[in-house]
Amino acid sequence: MFATSIIRWSYQHILKPLAFRFDPEDVHDAMIRFASVLGRSPRVQHAVSRIFCFSNTTLEQDLLGIHFTNPVGLSAGFDKNGQIIDAITATGFGFTEIGSITGKPCAGNPKPRLWRLPKSQAIMVWYGLKNDGCIAIAHRLHKQQYPIPVGTSIARTNDATTVDIQAGINDYATAFREFATIGAYTTINISCPNTCGGEPFTTPDRLELLLSVIDTIPSAKPIFLKLPVDLSFADTDALIVVAQRHRVHGFVIANLTKSHQSPNIDKTDLTENMRGGISGKPTFDQSNALIAHVFRTVGNQFVIIGVGGIFSAEDAYAKIRSGASLVQLITGLIFEGPQLVGEINRDLTALLARDGYTTIRDAVGASVRAHP
Ligand SMILES: Cc1cc2nc3c(=O)[nH]c(=O)nc-3n(C[C@H](O)[C@H](O)[C@H](O)COP(=O)(O)O)c2cc1C
Repeated sequence: MFATSIIRWSYQHILKPLAFRFDPEDVHDAMIRFASVLGRSPRVQHAVSRIFCFSNTTLEQDLLGIHFTNPVGLSAGFDKNGQIIDAITATGFGFTEIGSITGKPCAGNPKPRLWRLPKSQAIMVWYGLKNDGCIAIAHRLHKQQYPIPVGTSIARTNDATTVDIQAGINDYATAFREFATIGAYTTINISCPNTCGGEPFTTPDRLELLLSVIDTIPSAKPIFLKLPVDLSFADTDALIVVAQRHRVHGFVIANLTKSHQSPNIDKTDLTENMRGGISGKPTFDQSNALIAHVFRTVGNQFVIIGVGGIFSAEDAYAKIRSGASLVQLITGLIFEGPQLVGEINRDLTALLARDGYTTIRDAVGASVRAHP
């Protein structure tokens, strides 16, 4: 606890002010390089995990045949190529989602494509699914064993060749097939707001076409769908009806918001050249409302992973009480520091005890059950 307090202080007063002076993508790339070197030494990893990891049996869950030692995961988009899984484990995460990974290698959108919105506690993302492509990444991860569950997020390659619906489906199918036996679960990301051709698979008819093809590819891994945060409840329900007809086990709720007008965004953070989806605090309430809605509707059939604006244990707990069995984050890690993961797990344990829960399962959906 003393060590994490020192790390929090150092991150807030030294590392973050320094890092925030540089281009966000350069800092991100440097962090990936640093973390991948750090992850190569078992000794360093052991030392780091002794400082950062917090474990408690109340946080453990078995879901869809996967054991999670804690409910806090790293969301898709941080470790795009699956290069730092060991370092993520040492930081105390209970699971990670690599990607999004596409059928073909993808350079992403032209730079600049990442901006910090410090007053809004958010990031504007216009990356456009930069990644090495499914073949190179699968080749690297093939036959590797990881101590935490690794989700593989797949998406459609961001270029003009996949805008045609059938070509887009084939691209998803290529990535899905390549990762059919790699990792613990697959997430089908249909909600990236930053791609050529938009988000074609967020309509029921096209999602039906996509999932019908995915159904034909053998894989024992559970499948999640990553939903957009900006769809109405009615439009989300229509996608869920499609998911019910196919091999879908859960939902990741939700992706970046496309709305730049939200009252939670401090307009002085925005400049003319910015474009893309927004993460962090501006997505928090919207994603919680959608989690609660989906839990209320189909919570007994699907596992929900809640994501969007988690900066503390209280934030994670709000998502769990809304119906999420697991949570993910990125922006909180960048704004609060790497000790955040252990802090969330430690403080979650205290919140569960305060409310009389002996296991995290009992808290899932508690707010929805209290107000059906
Ligand atoms: C830099 C960055 C890149 C992202 N890239 C992806 C991605 O490739 N695939 C995806 O499904 N979500 C991506 N996201 C969205 C996150 O996974 C998450 O849904 C969103 O950021 C909300 O969580 P947060 O507020 O904890 O960051 C990205 C987010 C950020 C900040």
